[in-house]
Amino acid sequence: APGTIIVVGSLNLDLSVQTPRLPGPGETVTGNELRFSPGGKSSNQAAAAALLGGTVSLVGAVGDDEFADRVLSSANAFGVDTTQVERIAACATGAALIAVDAEGENNIIIAPGANAQLAATHVDAVPDALWDAASVLTLALEVSPETVLAAARRARAHDVQVVLNPSPLRELEPELLELTDLLVLNEHELAGLIGIDPEAPIAGAHALEALGALGISRCVITLGRAGALVLDATATAGEQVMPIPAYVVDAVDTTGCGDAFTGALAHALAGGATLIEATRLGALVGAFAARGAGAQVSYPTAAALEAFGAEAHTARAA
Ligand code: RIB
Ligand code: NA
Repeated sequence: APGTIIVVGSLNLDLSVQTPRLPGPGETVTGNELRFSPGGKSSNQAAAAALLGGTVSLVGAVGDDEFADRVLSSANAFGVDTTQVERIAACATGAALIAVDAEGENNIIIAPGANAQLAATHVDAVPDALWDAASVLTLALEVSPETVLAAARRARAHDVQVVLNPSPLRELEPELLELTDLLVLNEHELAGLIGIDPEAPIAGAHALEALGALGISRCVITLGRAGALVLDATATAGEQVMPIPAYVVDAVDTTGCGDAFTGALAHALAGGATLIEATRLGALVGAFAARGAGAQVSYPTAAALEAFGAEAHTARAA
């Protein structure tokens, strides 16, 4: 049976407004109605995997406000186990202020709230039985570096694959990179990590080498409308740089599409898929998610994805 997916990280309530265009500095623009929906990169990853049928445990923190009830009840409704999400007294739940433009692109400001209080000791207290049943851990960077590291160490000790989405990007500790089995990131994060021009086309062989020097041998680069690129130093020669085509969709809101991609990929890996197969599923789920407003609320169930996959078509690979 596929192993459990453990997700350690953030839960937010997303406050989103659709606007014809994003405001510049000092500018005011008028948008549509304010929408509240569950978000947070890690909660999004967890929801994506659970909706597809994965067994998912989320380790995180919320405050003791009304937002806490909203994010927890929706995670539960999507099938995510939240018994390892702690409620912190006298603390606000994480929130994200999101502006979405007519092309579905967004700007996000995060108020971390309880996510910033998620301690390494809380990760250390997760029962061994949960780690023993797990096959994949997914991580993003909306909680403290110590907490992320504690989770990666615990995963390694239990032979659980570590999938890291280094978002929002920060300086990464060598130990975290060493503990990471698979890096999933976008082209801007890749550029920041290995110091290349974010606007130039990615030279796969060079990126593989630069990542190798950081201790990363497997990496998936998400390219939005251009699909994805799988870099795998452990693959046979000729298959180390594999472009994966994108699905063509009318994007309404791309918020959380990367998280949907990562969660779906983790679900596929937990089920024994190859990295290429898992990346294809990630690309399909990410594309599906771009078609609807919000993050998690736009993610597919396995049945919805099947119907979409039968009709969706891919663009030329990057
Ligand atoms: O990646 C999208 C997510 O980033 C949103 O759901 C928001 O909560 C922020 O964490
Ligand atoms: Na969406």
